[in-house]
Amino acid sequence: MNKSPDAQPMEKIVSLCKRRGFIFQSSEIYGGLNGAWDYGPLGVELKRNLKNYWWRVMVHERDDVVGLDGAILTHPAVLKASGHVEGFSDPMVDCRLTNQRFRADQIPLQSGTVFIYEFARDATPPPEALLVLAQLAETDAEPRFDKQTIGPADAVDLAKRIATRHGLSIPPPTRDPNSIEMFLLDVVATIRKGEPEMADKFLAAYQPDKRRISGEEFRVLIRDGVPESNAEKTAREFYRKRGLHLPVVSLKPTQRVENNRDFNPENGAELTQPRPFNLMLETYLGAVADESSKAYLRPETAQSIFVQFKNVLEVSRKKLPFGIAQIGKAFRNEINPRNFTFRSREFEQMELEYFCRAEEGMKWLDYWLEERLKFYENIGIPRTKLHAHEIPDEERAFYSKGTYDIEFDFPFGRQELEGVAYRTDYDLQQHQKASGKSLEYFDEETKQRFIPHVVEPSAGVDRAVLALICEAYEEDTAPDEKGKLETRIVLRFHPRMAPIKCAVFPLLKNKEPLIAKAKEIIDLLRPHMNVFYDEGGAIGRRYRRQDEIGTPFAITVDFETLGEKDPALRDTVTLRDRDSMKQERVPIKELVSILASRIR
Ligand code: GAP
Repeated sequence: MNKSPDAQPMEKIVSLCKRRGFIFQSSEIYGGLNGAWDYGPLGVELKRNLKNYWWRVMVHERDDVVGLDGAILTHPAVLKASGHVEGFSDPMVDCRLTNQRFRADQIPLQSGTVFIYEFARDATPPPEALLVLAQLAETDAEPRFDKQTIGPADAVDLAKRIATRHGLSIPPPTRDPNSIEMFLLDVVATIRKGEPEMADKFLAAYQPDKRRISGEEFRVLIRDGVPESNAEKTAREFYRKRGLHLPVVSLKPTQRVENNRDFNPENGAELTQPRPFNLMLETYLGAVADESSKAYLRPETAQSIFVQFKNVLEVSRKKLPFGIAQIGKAFRNEINPRNFTFRSREFEQMELEYFCRAEEGMKWLDYWLEERLKFYENIGIPRTKLHAHEIPDEERAFYSKGTYDIEFDFPFGRQELEGVAYRTDYDLQQHQKASGKSLEYFDEETKQRFIPHVVEPSAGVDRAVLALICEAYEEDTAPDEKGKLETRIVLRFHPRMAPIKCAVFPLLKNKEPLIAKAKEIIDLLRPHMNVFYDEGGAIGRRYRRQDEIGTPFAITVDFETLGEKDPALRDTVTLRDRDSMKQERVPIKELVSILASRIR
C-alpha cells in the first residue's frame, strides 16, 4: 500500500464531497446560495457522529455539565447587552474597480510599486468635434450622436478618411487611447495649412476640458514580478467604468510600498477605507416589519446559555464549577464566505459555558484547552496537526483574561477550529445590568452572593467536519481483483466518526442462501450501528466504493459461511479492515461485540 506523495488539494475534496453525497451547495439548482451548504446522506451521518461524540464527552460522561437547546430567534435586548448590536462587526473594504468586498484583516500583506493616477480624460471627441471631423472627411454619412453610436471608432474612421483625402502618410493608431488622441491631433494639425478654420474649430472643441474627464485619483499596486503595463490597463478599466470610453490617464510619480493591505490581491486595484460591517442577520416577527418587531438570528449559541443561567442553575441544582452545553445553529452575514464550508453564513456551534469562581478562571482555561485538544485526537485528528495559539493581550476581547485558538492545518492553511476563552464575568454582568434580574450565585458554605466567571470552549461543527474530511482524505494504490495496482481514494475516518460503520456483501448476487445470510447479518448489526448492504459488482469494486466513503469495516458472506467447504467454518464471515486491507475470519455471533468495541 503506497501513500500518494502529493498534498490533497481542496478541489478533489470538494468534488468527492459532492460526488459521494457528503456536502452539496445549498439551492444548487438555482445557482447556489453563497455561504450556505446542505449535508447529504453521508455528510449528515458524519456530522451527527461528531455532535453525538461531543455531547457524550462534554455532557453525558461528566457530572458537572448539563445541556440546553435555546431558540435561534433572539430578542434584540439580549444582543444589545452582549455588545453584538454595537460591536459585532468586521472591517470591510471594497475594491474600487470591481466592487468586490473583502474583510480588511484578511487581505494578505503585499509589497511592490504603486502607480498613482491623478485623473483621466476621454480621447473620444465630443459631438461638436466629431461634427467637424465629419465635415473635414466630406462624408455624406451624418455621424450619429446618440450615446450608443458616438465613439472612438467613428472618430478614428473619420480621421482616416481625412488622411486619405489629403494623401497623408500618418500611421493609423493602435487601440491605445493615447495613440488615438495623438492620431486625431496629428491628422488635424497636418491639414491645418489647407483648412485652418475647420482645424481650429476642431481643436477648440477637442480641448481636454470640453471632453469627458474624471478627476478621481486611483492607485494600482504592481506586485514585484508582475508586468508594469498591467497598471495602466487596470487604471483605464477604472476610468472606463466612470464613463470615459477611451481614458487617457495621467500618472504621478510611483511609490514603493512594503507589507501593505490597501490593494485588491487579485487585480492590484486600490481598496476603499475599512468600514465596520455588522455581521448579524435580522428578521421581523409577525405581520408588521418595524423596529418593534425586529429579532436577530443568533450569531452564537452562547448568549441563550447566559440568559438562562439562573433557570438552569435552579433546576439542575449544580454547584460551582459547572457547565451548560449547547449545540445549535448560528448565523453570521460573513463578508466573504470561503474555503468551502470553513466560513459560512449559516453554521453550527458546539459551545460549553463552564462557570467557576474568579480565582479559578485561569486554571479552568488550561484544563479546557487540554480537554479540547484530546477531543480532536480522539476523533482522528493528530496532535501534530493541531496548534494552540495563544491570543496576545492586544488582540483579545477586552473582557477576556486569556484566549486560545485551536488551529488545524487545513489544505488552505492553518486556521481556527475552536476558541477556548476565559470570558471573566462579563456576559452575566452585562445581562444582569440590562435586564435588572439577579444572575448571582449563592454559595451555601460562605453565604456569599457573586457573579460567576466563565470559561468557554466554542467549537464549530462544520469546521470540525471539514477538518475530519481533509485529514481522512488519501489517495493510495491497492490491487484490483486481478491483482493489478490501481489508485484508490480512501477516507481514513476514525471508526467512531465514519458515516457507515460496516458494509455487508454476499459474495455473489444470484445465490439466494448467500443473500439471506448477508441480510440476517444486516438485521443483527443494525440496532447497534449504521450498516450498508451491497450486492452489486465484483467484491473488489464494492470494497473500493466503501473505502471512498470511509467505511472502516466490510463483511463478506461466502460459501464457507454456508459451511459448504468446511463445516467448522459454518456461520463465520470475513471481516475486512479498510486501512490494513487485512481480512480475518470471525464467527457471526461475535460480530456485534467485535465491531462495537472498535467503533465506540
Ligand atoms: N461564543 C464564542 C464564539 O462564537 P467565535 O470564535 O466567533 O466564538 C467559535 O466562534 C467557533 O465557531 C469558531 O472557532 C468556528 O469553529 C465557528 N465559526 C465561527 N464563525 C464561523 C463561520 N462563519 N463559519 C463556520 N464556522 C464558524
